[in-house]
Amino acid sequence: MEEIKACIFDLDGVIVDTAKYHFVAWRRLANELGFDFSHEDNEKLKGVSRVESLRLILEWGKVEKTEAEQKVLAARKNEWYTESIQSMPKEEILDGVIPFLKSVQAAGMKIALGSASKNARAILQQVDLMDYFDAIVDGNNVAHSKPHPEVFLNGAEALGVKPEECVVFEDAEKGVAAALRGHFFAVGLGEEEVLGEAHLVLPSLVDWDIKRIIATIK
Ligand code: BG6
Ligand code: MG
Repeated sequence: MEEIKACIFDLDGVIVDTAKYHFVAWRRLANELGFDFSHEDNEKLKGVSRVESLRLILEWGKVEKTEAEQKVLAARKNEWYTESIQSMPKEEILDGVIPFLKSVQAAGMKIALGSASKNARAILQQVDLMDYFDAIVDGNNVAHSKPHPEVFLNGAEALGVKPEECVVFEDAEKGVAAALRGHFFAVGLGEEEVLGEAHLVLPSLVDWDIKRIIATIK
């Protein structure tokens, strides 16, 4: 079995608690268009790019919009979303994340971000986490949305490691699927029912370090 040399982290819902802000902004948009969607529906949006999320939401509401109108709607949602995270404090960094990142560094391993978000760099800067990352791959660098493994494959390439040598941390079903398709180890952060395909599912990173993760998944 390959040695584990690196970790790739999703951002929204793994590093920072932004998943809830995405939900609120999309729901506001849907409500303005005259319909609603549930928490369960929202699971299907996690890890999915902005344009693809809008396409799904419009489908749920049975609303048809031209390409040009979709651009305006996606921009409106992003405006609400970025407004809501503008003053996001460091407390929105999820519990256990900083000690965990430190444990990865202490083990001499590399760290990459693998996020669908085009706001990823701004968010990492806002909560002062940029320095932990050796590589950042985000929504500005990929053509395919998760469950396509592109974002993680690019992350591994940027770090100079093979997928088999990386552990991916994800809160989205589609993110776990992307990691597995790319032949990475996958750790799901959240509920077993949603993320059960992963090599390991944890409620959070609290009380875990990378050595314990590796010992558990291998
Ligand atoms: C993912 C989120 O990380 O990024 C999705 O899970 C979001 O909910 C996607 O739609 C794109 O984010 P952004 O910030 O580019 O709109
Ligand atoms: Mg996520």
